[in-house]
Order: sequence, then C-alpha cells, then structure tokens
Amino acid sequence: MHNFEGQTVLLTGGAGYIGSHTALVLAQWGAKVVVVDNFCNSAPESIRRVEEITQKTIPCLELDVRDQAGLEEVMTEHKPVAVIHFAGLKAVGESVEKPQLYFEVNFGSTSALCGAMQNCGVKNLIFSSSATVYGDLNQPPLTETMSTPMDRVANPYGLSKLVIEQMLKWQQRANSDWSVTLLRYFNPVGAHPSGKIGEDPQGDPNNLMPRVTRVALGIIDTLHVFGTDYPETDDGSPSRDYIHVMDLAEGHAAALAEMLKDGRPPALKTYNLGSGKATTVLELLAAFEEATGQKVKREIHPRREGDLPVSFADPSLANKELNWKTQRSIVEMCRDAWNWQQQNPNGYRA
Ligand SMILES: NC(=O)c1ccc[n+]([C@@H]2O[C@H](COP(=O)([O-])OP(=O)(O)OC[C@H]3O[C@@H](n4cnc5c(N)ncnc54)[C@H](O)[C@@H]3O)[C@@H](O)[C@H]2O)c1
Repeated sequence: MHNFEGQTVLLTGGAGYIGSHTALVLAQWGAKVVVVDNFCNSAPESIRRVEEITQKTIPCLELDVRDQAGLEEVMTEHKPVAVIHFAGLKAVGESVEKPQLYFEVNFGSTSALCGAMQNCGVKNLIFSSSATVYGDLNQPPLTETMSTPMDRVANPYGLSKLVIEQMLKWQQRANSDWSVTLLRYFNPVGAHPSGKIGEDPQGDPNNLMPRVTRVALGIIDTLHVFGTDYPETDDGSPSRDYIHVMDLAEGHAAALAEMLKDGRPPALKTYNLGSGKATTVLELLAAFEEATGQKVKREIHPRREGDLPVSFADPSLANKELNWKTQRSIVEMCRDAWNWQQQNPNGYRA
C-alpha cells in the first residue's frame, strides 16, 4: 500500500474497466482522483459506485481527450501531479474494419494530452500499453527488452499502442524533466470483490471473460473456443496470461509511487504487468465452473487467424523495480467476474 495523500491524479478514460478499478485503489490510498471520459465505452455510474465504495468525491467530467483546450482547463483547475492515460479505443476486430478511427482517436487523444501537459507543466505520465506490441515474433516469456517491430503486430489496435509508445519516448526525450511509464498489460479479467464495479463492454463483448459470464447467465448461447489443436499447449487450446484487474490497478499505484518518489531522476520506463503464468482457454473454463458452479456451454471451432498459441509475461522487472506482483488466483478472477455479472446482468444500465 502507498500513501498518495495530497496528490491529485488525472485519469483519462477513468470511467472504463481498468480506469475505474485504478480510481478506486488510488482513492483508497489517499489520492485525489479526477476523471475525464467521453463515455463512448463506459458510463459515469462506474465512478459514482467508486465514490460509494471509497466514500471519496471523484470529479468525473465529460470530455473527449482530443479536446486539448478542454484538458488544459481541467489541468488548470485541478493541478494534477500525474496523468494516467487509459482513454482510447480497444476492440481489435473493429480496429481492422476501421483503422482510421483507431488512429484518429488513439493518436489524437495522446497528442492532445501531451500538448496540454506541456502547456500546463504536468510532467508525469503513465500510459496503458498492451502485450500486443510484442507481436508474433517473440517467444514467451515476453520481456521488455525484446524488439517490437511494427510489421509484426497483428492489427491496427496493436499498431496504435506501439506507435504511441514511440511517440511518448520522443516526447520524454525532448522534455527531459518528464517521467513516462509505459505499462504493457497482459489479459485483465475479474472485478472488484464487492461486485459493484466490473467490465461492462458496450455491445457484443470481444474479450473472453465477459463472454464466459454472459454464456453462464444465458445472455449468449454458447462460447466459441477457437482451436484445440495447438501443439504448444497440453489441452490444445491457446493460453494467455490472465491478471486480476485489482492486481492491475495496484500495479498502476506501484508505478505511480515509484514515479513520484523523492529524488528519483525523470525517466522513461517500460513494465510488463502480468502474472507470468499461462492459462489455456479450457483451463479457464474449468476454473470458472469450479469457482461458480455454473456450466459453460461451448463449441469447438477452427483456429482464428492471427491468434497466438501461447502468450505470457516475464513480470520480473515490475516485481523488482515496482515492488509489485500479482496476488490473486485464476479462481478469484472467475469468482469476482461472475459476482459482478450476476449482480449487474445489464452492466451499469439499470
Ligand atoms: N482490457 C484489456 O484487455 C486491455 C489490455 C491491454 C491494454 N488495454 C488498454 O487499457 C486502456 C483501458 O482499457 P479498458 O479495458 O479499461 O477499456 P475501456 O473501454 O473500458 O476504457 C477506456 C475508456 O476510455 C474512454 N474513451 C475512449 N475514447 C475516448 C476519448 N476520445 N476521450 C475520452 N474518453 C475516451 C471510454 O469511454 C472508456 O471509458 C485502453 O487504452 C486499452 O487499450 C486494455
């Protein structure tokens, strides 16, 4: 646990899945949290519930992060010591259909944010990157020093993360008094144990866990498992590094604490936030059934183009430098995701 008493932190996209859990952890650990979000994939209700849990007031302002003047107003009023930049579009399939939209929103918001930080003298930035930057060239365990060539990322979403990482490297180099931390998330799942906040994708969910919980609730008929013939895993289904969203939120707090430490020289840092363990789709389904007592109806389909057989992090750099590691098990991830979905079958919509 860290103490952020007296420090204001601005969260772009803070009403979303990872942002709302991070808002909760930071507020519980004493920070004054301010959220800006255009609610294109979220609702202000998530932050209202964070306020309810933490008993703290969290200003939650409707703003498109591409609006630099609007950001500058917020920064002038709230004087954040740091920004955590979650805002962006993240649906892989949609990014293949509408690459221009992904470039406009993800690059445009980051560029406007950097401009506003420069004009307002805010010098600390944490960015939500992704394991997708490792592409299909690298063999797991994936480490931060591996090369990340642009032509090996699988989709425009991944490309947007990789290019933003490079944008921020140059930004930090030109502003040597800035600290920038790039956090490469693996596969966040689960929810706060209260079941009051959780993952609430608009429309048809892309990620595995919201699909699993919807199948268990009967909202979706069957779960499609793509590929059970990968020789790289014991049961033939692909494996991923799942991380409980509360562990991920605490990883942001650890990165922020490190960044704000007295006497720490400004720097650009990159960390994997993952558990270091690979779990296959079929193992995840078994854990879900064990944790919840619910059967998950499934259909086996051929492999999906572009899916990696195995992906997991080497999280040792974050373990060492941020003094952080994942604490929560796959069973807890399943139990908490189910608890949230059961209490909120329609997400934040009543
Ligand atoms: N969830 C994952 O599996 C995952 C994995 C790796 C990286 N990430 C990254 O982490 C970040 C947060 O992801 P999440 O899962 O919480 O997604 P999310 O969609 O729940 O949260 C993103 C938030 O950004 C907001 N937003 C989008 N465009 C905006 C804009 N132009 N102006 C203001 N707000 C805007 C959305 O309304 C939403 O509240 C994203 O950048 C995502 O790419 C997510």
